[in-house]
Amino acid sequence: MMATDPEIPLFNLVTCISKALDLVSPVLVNHHYRVAYIAHHLGVASGLETTQLHDLAVAGALHDVGALSLREKLKIMVFEMEKPHHHAIKGYLLLNMFAPFAQIASFVQFHHVPWERGQGSEFSGRPVPLESHILHLADRIAVLLGNQTEVLGQAKQIREAIIGRSGQMFVPRLVDAFLNFADKEYFWLEATSSSLNSVLAEKLGMEGIQLDVEMLLSFSKMICRVIDFRSPFTATHSSGVAATAAELARLSGFSERDCRLIRIAGYLHDLGKLAVPAEVLEKPAKLTEDEFNVVRSHTFHTFRILETLPGMELVNGWASLHHERLNGHGYPFHFAGRDLSLGSRIIAVADVFTAITEDRPYRAGMNSGRALQVLQQMADDQALDGQIVSRLSRHFADINSLRIAAQTDCMEEYRQFGETAQSFSDLLREKK
Ligand SMILES: [Fe+2]
Ligand SMILES: [Fe+2]
Ligand SMILES: [Fe+2]
Repeated sequence: MMATDPEIPLFNLVTCISKALDLVSPVLVNHHYRVAYIAHHLGVASGLETTQLHDLAVAGALHDVGALSLREKLKIMVFEMEKPHHHAIKGYLLLNMFAPFAQIASFVQFHHVPWERGQGSEFSGRPVPLESHILHLADRIAVLLGNQTEVLGQAKQIREAIIGRSGQMFVPRLVDAFLNFADKEYFWLEATSSSLNSVLAEKLGMEGIQLDVEMLLSFSKMICRVIDFRSPFTATHSSGVAATAAELARLSGFSERDCRLIRIAGYLHDLGKLAVPAEVLEKPAKLTEDEFNVVRSHTFHTFRILETLPGMELVNGWASLHHERLNGHGYPFHFAGRDLSLGSRIIAVADVFTAITEDRPYRAGMNSGRALQVLQQMADDQALDGQIVSRLSRHFADINSLRIAAQTDCMEEYRQFGETAQSFSDLLREKK
């Protein structure tokens, strides 16, 4: 349990999330880590300073955060791809929602701009930071690496592919920086090592920004958009869970600080859903058994991702147990009764309540009366905590209007997100 506010190194939190982004397909394994690692190497060889290196590694660890569907994620793993900027713009818009990431967002926005013999110093009339070109080169090296098991045999070929595109695709002095370490075996072995996370954390982890509760709240809110904005059906889900849980916690006597922490748990409870392809979330028909199993794995992923972060124990205990049931029939641990803390029971009620009132691809949302009936039935079946369900029905009007307000605001954000991404894309198409 946390006696004091968590102080979590931002970089550790970011790399955990980047791992989740790559869980969605074996083709992507460690792609984000690798780009962070290679970008850091390129940054060192280009003489960047410590804070620049930190930002560059964070940008590398999140650079494809805007590739929301599996189709899009696989498309950008092809070395020479078409229309590369759409996901970069969406990545920019998402990362820009967290104020300390304004600069990182701008690196991500331009991470597919080719150098074109100097024309790539600008894009759509705006200056392109050197960090974007570093990310571009790091990303393409990582793509060429793919999932090779014998990496040293590939190094020469990758080196030649990069040299062949110096000036056209990549900044020549960055290619030279790459050549400083491209013939050293350790670089390739480390870039493909399974302990890349600790290699990176050691290089940068404890430096840079530490998140207190307030910053963690705003960071989690941004991550909740990354999780939910992948589909219009889930766009406002975690915002609804966070608002409902925070109010239920307040009514249950939680301190101000713990209400903030449970809001964070609400924002992050579906973090493991990043491992579920958006195409599955949006499927308008019954899921196959395999798809259903992938969906069911999400709470375990949330648990594993948050588990690696010291200071997040309490939040993790609340967030990742939201599909456990008091009668032991939940998943993935089959915890029952007293194994489930009040906070985790609150998140479970908030999650069911928000989920059943939302429209899904295969059904419309329930009205309030029907939703309360379903919750009551689940309390009678010892699935949900009866006291929390009756607290929800006693304060129904207040809680429901807070939930609706949070989801309405978030839906407006989602609409603007889609519109802005589209107008950027239109602008780029005009330019071509
Ligand atoms: Fe990309
Ligand atoms: Fe990438
Ligand atoms: Fe959920």
